[in-house]
Amino acid sequence: MKFFIDTANMEEIRDAYALGLVAGVTTNPSLVAKEKNISFPDRLKEITELVSGSVSAEVIALDAEGMIKEGRELAAIAPNITIKVPMTPDGLKAVSTFAKEGIKTNVTLIFSANQALLAARAGATYVSPFIGRLDDIGHNGMDLVSTIAEIFAIHGIETEIIAASIRHPQHVTDAALQGAHIATIPYKVLMQLFNHPLTDKGIEAFLADWEKRSK
Ligand code: E4P
Repeated sequence: MKFFIDTANMEEIRDAYALGLVAGVTTNPSLVAKEKNISFPDRLKEITELVSGSVSAEVIALDAEGMIKEGRELAAIAPNITIKVPMTPDGLKAVSTFAKEGIKTNVTLIFSANQALLAARAGATYVSPFIGRLDDIGHNGMDLVSTIAEIFAIHGIETEIIAASIRHPQHVTDAALQGAHIATIPYKVLMQLFNHPLTDKGIEAFLADWEKRSK
């Protein structure tokens, strides 16, 4: 499973990318809205100058024609822009057009296996099941990831699964176990993955022993 970072914040992206383990970035309109006084195309340009992997940029239009126009403009910013499209009939019309044009797509707001299957058959490069938001309403978000992974494996579907709406480190472990190809993770959760009290304690003990060595 690869790691993407789920943010539009340049500082977080720079920091995460410097770790050498982040393969891409996902943004959404809410994440972009948190950034003060930025132009979305300029921010995408800035991100793609740093990140060579997939950078998801979401369209705002709700009709296929509008999504296609917006998506083409966003895709022209850099070759590694992936167009994020909501899981609707119009969204999938746009996805199939983008697929014919060689533009990569990420179908977002996936909450059922059937939605993932439809998106894959329309030509989506990625599908994004939202784990945390399903957990929030009392469902088991991770079950959706494993069901989609199983269906894609049975039918030899190459669309990649991005485990999205990740809220804590256990989601990351479970997504990897259930067969997600990618987890897109908020910066805070990414940094939490490094933590273990025994690692801190171990470093402390090594340093203390080093200081006590006979010189
Ligand atoms: C994924 O592409 C989405 O941007 C994101 O994971 C949504 O997460 P949230 O449910 O925490 O807003």
